[in-house]
Amino acid sequence: MNLIARLFIGLGLLVTIVLGSPLPDSAIPEYFQHVPVTRDQLSVSQVQQELGSQLSKGTLIIGPNDAEWANVTKRYSTYSKPKDLKLVVKVNAESDVSKVVKYCNRNSINFMANNQGHGFTTTIAKLSGIEINLSQLTNIKIQPNKKSAWFQGGTWGGNIIKTLWDQGFVTTTGSNECVGLMGPALGGGFGRYQGLYGLISDNFVTLNVVLSDGKNLQVSSTSNPELFWAMKGAGHNFGIVTSAELNIYPRQIDTWHYHNYAWTQDKLETIFETLNKIQGKGKTPAKLAVNFGQISLDTSYSTTEAILGWTFAYMGAASEGEKVLQPFNEIPALQSTQGDATYEELLQIQGTGASDPTACSSNPLMGSSGLLQTWNVTTQREIYTLFNKTAAEQPDLAANARVFYEGYSTLKTQAIDPLSSAYPHRDEYLVYFFATITPPGKESQALTWASQVRNLFNAGQPDRRVATYVNYATGDESLESIYGYEPWRLQKLRGLKAKYDPGNAFRYYNPIVPV
Ligand SMILES: Cc1cc2nc3c(=O)[nH]c(=O)nc-3n(C[C@H](O)[C@H](O)[C@H](O)COP(=O)(O)OP(=O)(O)OC[C@H]3O[C@@H](n4cnc5c(N)ncnc54)[C@H](O)[C@@H]3O)c2cc1C
Ligand SMILES: *[C@@H]1O[C@H](CO)[C@@H](O)[C@H](O)[C@H]1NC(C)=O
Ligand SMILES: *[C@@H]1O[C@H](CO)[C@@H](O)[C@H](O)[C@H]1NC(C)=O
Ligand SMILES: *[C@@H]1O[C@H](CO)[C@@H](O)[C@H](O)[C@H]1NC(C)=O
Ligand SMILES: *[C@@H]1O[C@H](CO)[C@@H](O)[C@H](O)[C@H]1NC(C)=O
Repeated sequence: MNLIARLFIGLGLLVTIVLGSPLPDSAIPEYFQHVPVTRDQLSVSQVQQELGSQLSKGTLIIGPNDAEWANVTKRYSTYSKPKDLKLVVKVNAESDVSKVVKYCNRNSINFMANNQGHGFTTTIAKLSGIEINLSQLTNIKIQPNKKSAWFQGGTWGGNIIKTLWDQGFVTTTGSNECVGLMGPALGGGFGRYQGLYGLISDNFVTLNVVLSDGKNLQVSSTSNPELFWAMKGAGHNFGIVTSAELNIYPRQIDTWHYHNYAWTQDKLETIFETLNKIQGKGKTPAKLAVNFGQISLDTSYSTTEAILGWTFAYMGAASEGEKVLQPFNEIPALQSTQGDATYEELLQIQGTGASDPTACSSNPLMGSSGLLQTWNVTTQREIYTLFNKTAAEQPDLAANARVFYEGYSTLKTQAIDPLSSAYPHRDEYLVYFFATITPPGKESQALTWASQVRNLFNAGQPDRRVATYVNYATGDESLESIYGYEPWRLQKLRGLKAKYDPGNAFRYYNPIVPV
């Protein structure tokens, strides 16, 4: 028995294989476009019948009436949920991807690949068609020379970090256990090993890509090098990666050192001044891999006055790490906890693990984000004051809001030639985002707050242009701020787009050719 039996039993449908018969050309739904032969609205069971027989055992074709629908369409931000999703094909083999894409093309069905559902740009919501869910493609194979490993297109932070660490290795991944590998990587990819090894995409060796016409292509510095350039920073626009070979590295340490602090708002200026002293402009030491901070309400302290929480991860022993963190130890804290932990434990301690109530959940989130070189202390006070005001005036909106600060070491990112990849922001060293879980009916207030926060950050660096990380963009930013202001960058990307995806099939993730 192959997929069909499993699938149909699983979904409680008839175990019959029936080939679809052509349908009349009437009432053409808008998601059937650009083809001479147009199929009428395909039903889930019809796609199951026609496509199911071609796909590998274990592949699931899931429609809105199936029990698994809620799980397989779960998204970190409910505002990025496709508004008109017809069905999800959860593939079980890399070879299925090209078959699904070809089937979609034959039937003029829009498609988008995805994995862990953490993409939160609102452009994703524009999909009317099917999702190719890659989350079952989780194999990781360390190569015999131990210098690289192959990761299938559905691998994700937690499964990579644990698998490699247990065998004595690490690689560049996102910092969050629940986030996919390729989602971040195709846009650059920030993470704790960035200071030593660069962005995730800086570590690409070879990519197996399915193009928009369903063809398989090997992409590397020697095979389709221009496409390789584009996939390193603008990759969501060009293809589906069924597997990727990435550099891996000996893990070097057995434990990370962490230190978490909570401070009252009166320490705000000292905190940001101290951060600026240690971080300079892009000078954060590689071993001080990351610090995350946030302004948010903690009701155990106060329901109106937000506090500042910070977590530092140091790649090495406590004695070394605490020397670097000494200036923060001198700022009187509400709470201060430190210790040493394995990499996997660190993910939980820093609020980036599967156990975290916000990191891996699904919520109506609205927000804004940006990239910067340094923290403007005046600006941070203004942002705090706005938070405090909103907490007093709209407590429901502020209850689950936060301004989030990310400081990665970027030493290696900066050392890599900016011309060598589509990632355009090697001279930006800090990340902020604002997010609020939006109570029903409060969407416009949430958006207003989000843009006020972004305006304040922008005003805090009047001499620099607005820069947006493609993976944190919410969908309303300029293309230049995302893909780079040098005119040749977007020109080159558009040229490659015309060559590799002339029909603009890949247009749901901050597309370089917007619709
Ligand atoms: C809680 C949280 C933490 C985050 N932490 C980080 C971080 O540490 N570092 C960082 O750089 N970013 C981070 N991000 C942003 C992250 O890079 C994006 O949200 C990313 O899109 C998530 O990928 P996903 O597989 O989880 O999401 P999905 O929504 O499943 O995928 C997002 C998009 O990526 C594309 N895609 C995914 N897999 C493939 C593939 N194999 N081939 C082709 N296209 C593919 C598709 O266009 C898809 O629409 C974080 C986001 C959240 C919500
Ligand atoms: C949905 O996901 C939850 C949590 O992972 C799981 O317990 C449940 O069985 C899933 N439901 C279906 C129908 O797959
Ligand atoms: C893909 O499927 C997995 C498992 O059902 C689910 O956790 C994930 O959220 C799905 N991805 C998307 C983008 O819906
Ligand atoms: C925060 O707002 C409250 C009113 O809710 C006000 O009394 C307090 O002074 C404000 N604190 C700061 C630091 O802005
Ligand atoms: C910091 O932000 C303030 C307020 O927006 C601005 O006036 C000032 O010029 C900024 N400072 C620097 C060094 O950019």
